[in-house]
Amino acid sequence: MTMTVTNPINLASTLCEMPPGPCAIIIFGAAGDLTKRKLLPSLYNMRLNKLLPENFAVIGLSRAPINTDAFREDLTSSTKEYAASRFDAEHWNWFKERIYYLQGNFDDAKVYSNLGELLANVDREHGTQGNYLFYLATSEDYFETIVEKASQADLHKALENQWRHFIIEKPFGRDLKSAHELNKKLLTVLNENQIYRIDHYLGKETVQNILVFRFGNGIFEPTWNHHYIDNVQITVAETVGVEARGGFYEKAGNLRDMVPNHMFQLLSFIAMEPPTCFDADVVRSKKTELINSIRPLTYEDVHTNVVRGQYAAGEIDGQPVPGYRTENRVAPDSTTETFTAMKLMIDNWRWVDVPFYLRTGKRLPKRTTEIAIKFKSPPSCLFRNTTVSSLVENYLIMHIQPHEGISLEFGAKIPGPLLQVGPVQMDFDYQDYFGPSPSTGYETLIYDCMVGDQTLFQRDDNVEAGWRVVQPILDVWQSEKPKDFPNYPAGTWGPLAANKLINRDGRDWKI
Ligand SMILES: NC(=O)c1ccc[n+]([C@@H]2O[C@H](COP(=O)([O-])OP(=O)(O)OC[C@H]3O[C@@H](n4cnc5c(N)ncnc54)[C@H](OP(=O)(O)O)[C@@H]3O)[C@@H](O)[C@H]2O)c1
Repeated sequence: MTMTVTNPINLASTLCEMPPGPCAIIIFGAAGDLTKRKLLPSLYNMRLNKLLPENFAVIGLSRAPINTDAFREDLTSSTKEYAASRFDAEHWNWFKERIYYLQGNFDDAKVYSNLGELLANVDREHGTQGNYLFYLATSEDYFETIVEKASQADLHKALENQWRHFIIEKPFGRDLKSAHELNKKLLTVLNENQIYRIDHYLGKETVQNILVFRFGNGIFEPTWNHHYIDNVQITVAETVGVEARGGFYEKAGNLRDMVPNHMFQLLSFIAMEPPTCFDADVVRSKKTELINSIRPLTYEDVHTNVVRGQYAAGEIDGQPVPGYRTENRVAPDSTTETFTAMKLMIDNWRWVDVPFYLRTGKRLPKRTTEIAIKFKSPPSCLFRNTTVSSLVENYLIMHIQPHEGISLEFGAKIPGPLLQVGPVQMDFDYQDYFGPSPSTGYETLIYDCMVGDQTLFQRDDNVEAGWRVVQPILDVWQSEKPKDFPNYPAGTWGPLAANKLINRDGRDWKI
């Protein structure tokens, strides 16, 4: 059953056109993949939606030996390919004239003084008024160096009525200790309110909608607890393998890449206590509180409640695909995991005895990110003397990607003289209701950084809380290498142990 759309509205007509004040964005790593596929297309989409200031400029900094003209040409073709919205020559020309390229090495102090001079010129030429967003689209190895050298050149210091913000990409650290060290180093130079630790999952409409759904409606929150909810399942499944990122993935692995960041963002929005207001620090404190309430995993828990896997060769959509160990830049005897599943318990009053099952991996049968909330059955079956032998399970499912929406599954009487109950579904689909809104997912986050709103960015304690939960898993996995890898064929839902993890509690994965 599809819910009737009573009042479809076009998102474009509802967008608040409130561009931020004058500013320049400086992208470190501007010849890289993220800049081409996401950052420039996002800025261009923002221009189309009137969410960029008129006084604006982009400076790309990288070591590739190209000049501004060549950089502008490269970005013209990549933005056409990746912006997902119509290509408008007039808007693009406006945008292109504001793009500059500075060649240099992040380690070289001279680059930062050159950058200072270029920024002064840009301020004069485009009226950007000394407001700078530094986007560190580089490998984690450079986060500290760039911030340190930028500060030695005084680029981080704003005069009165100016701002200087730094977006730091993920991964933020590779364990609790390194994340803590990085926080400490950044905070010796910057204030916390200048640091924007990005997790692009929070740029997705459906993720932000979790808060609106829970706290902007009166009907759901009363059931949002252990009295009514049986379990929560969070699945982030990819069909792709490691593609060109074999080198990165060998060092990171699936747990580091997905769990303390993306999956814990979803978990905290779903399970956190209501904040008293929609203020960045209040919301972020509630998120940290929730992650800190996850029951710490003991050595035994890691063995019984956490599963790791690595894909072997198999088939995706009927096409043969190679195993992880034969991917480019992957060791033939690699023990890096490409799949993780776990059961977590949250030790607070709301969630007592409600398991949270998390599952994420590569080369799974379907690309999907969704949160399935299973409600408890009615206390007794009223229909026991009828033909109804069992009731339909009630699920609320939040679809995060590729489809964005919410479904509710419940039982309804099947028409006819016999009393029979069958499953039906009410669906809300973002695109059906609000119309298409082409985006890369970074627009909201870049906009928020320009207006100084940190709600959707991770604070230092958010990041460290996530690492604290997964640290025991990292420790056990580091000291005890897996003996059964590869343990799932590509195109399946991971190792059998992931099914056993949930089946032994008398439950099943929803998908
Ligand atoms: N790509 C994505 O979709 C994506 C998604 C989420 C997060 N991220 C994160 O975003 C960051 C950037 O990712 P990416 O995929 O764009 O990486 P990338 O393609 O490797 O880009 C990094 C850029 O920095 C340049 N660079 C490296 N070392 C330099 C140095 N010492 N001095 C000057 N330039 C230097 C590289 O130049 P060369 O080309 O010469 O090496 C390259 O142009 C990473 O932290 C990644 O984890 C990326």
